[in-house]
Amino acid sequence: MSRRLFTVGPVNVEPEVLQSTTKPMITHRSKEYKQLHGNIVEKIRKALGTDMNVFLLGGSATVLIEGSVRNAVSKKCLSITNGSFGERMIDCATYNGKEAVTVKVPWGRAMRPSHIEGKVGEDIESVNWVSNESSTGVLSDSVAIADEVRKQNPDAMIIVDAVTSAFAADLKVDKMGADAIVFGTQKALALPPGLAIGLISDRMIERSAKIPNTGYYTNFQKLKKNADENYALTTPPVSLLYGLDYQLDRALSEGMAARYRRHDKMASMVEKWADTNLNGLFPEEGSRSKTIGVLNRGELDFDAFHKALKAKGYEISNGYGEVKSSTFRIGHMGDVTPDTLTELLDTMKGIMEEMK
Ligand SMILES: Cc1ncc(COP(=O)(O)O)c(C=O)c1O
Repeated sequence: MSRRLFTVGPVNVEPEVLQSTTKPMITHRSKEYKQLHGNIVEKIRKALGTDMNVFLLGGSATVLIEGSVRNAVSKKCLSITNGSFGERMIDCATYNGKEAVTVKVPWGRAMRPSHIEGKVGEDIESVNWVSNESSTGVLSDSVAIADEVRKQNPDAMIIVDAVTSAFAADLKVDKMGADAIVFGTQKALALPPGLAIGLISDRMIERSAKIPNTGYYTNFQKLKKNADENYALTTPPVSLLYGLDYQLDRALSEGMAARYRRHDKMASMVEKWADTNLNGLFPEEGSRSKTIGVLNRGELDFDAFHKALKAKGYEISNGYGEVKSSTFRIGHMGDVTPDTLTELLDTMKGIMEEMK
């Protein structure tokens, strides 16, 4: 039986989108490739309203999150965290030998400018955080945090993980003025996994020239040189780029404002369902994710519930990290629509009634 994913990622990929990845192979130093790469870059810039550099790098998003830290920081950075993926960002710094001063915000709460007041001194080379924390379903205001960073230390680079927010929530990329905004194909772009996408500032690339040991694969000097020619540094996942080109056309024809409204609507639907049928959502009100509902389980036997749901052809996601056993998650990214989400929520309600 086929299964429709309402997961946190990878997410459901529509058959026509999968089909778009199956065009004949081309080599990555050909004119056709250059055209494809250039088209994708322009479409990403148009969709997100930016003229930043766009890096397309084979791998999952983490390769460019880690790469950004490696290219921005020689010694010390500040990492704000309110969940598992924020903690992983800290690891991306420390595993590369950088000191990461940490600001821990309670799980389920949004990160706010006040959390970093007085903490971005001259020795802080970058400030790093996750815009939409996938373990807790919290969307923080990255523009406000970025403004606070600049107020304290305009030289600090700003590195934002936008893995589960880009292309679903309006990040106000230009207003944010970040130096690295990173995401991947397998979330709100509803493609198979395997490509990391980074919006990178010119000043980040200038900074990287002075940083030792940035690696080869994530060397921003080399990536920039190739990106300026619409080429990849090493062999890119060409099939995924076909799919990305296709999905960007679909996003642009839907219109980004309409896309953001669709995700807003679906977030409200899940919130309402959780309030009516369970113990509501885990994250604080006012800062809830537009792509991931993190629901309090209450007394629900999630394993039995999920087994029954899978038998009806749907898959959702378990809780994650500290709240693994007290929550579960519904992903409504990419090509999920209010209609398909209604089908899921009605099925979930039916199963809960059967389980009574
Ligand atoms: C917020 C967030 N950041 C980072 C990651 C890691 O992304 P990837 O597996 O593409 O490296 C995930 C994956 O779920 C995520 O949700």
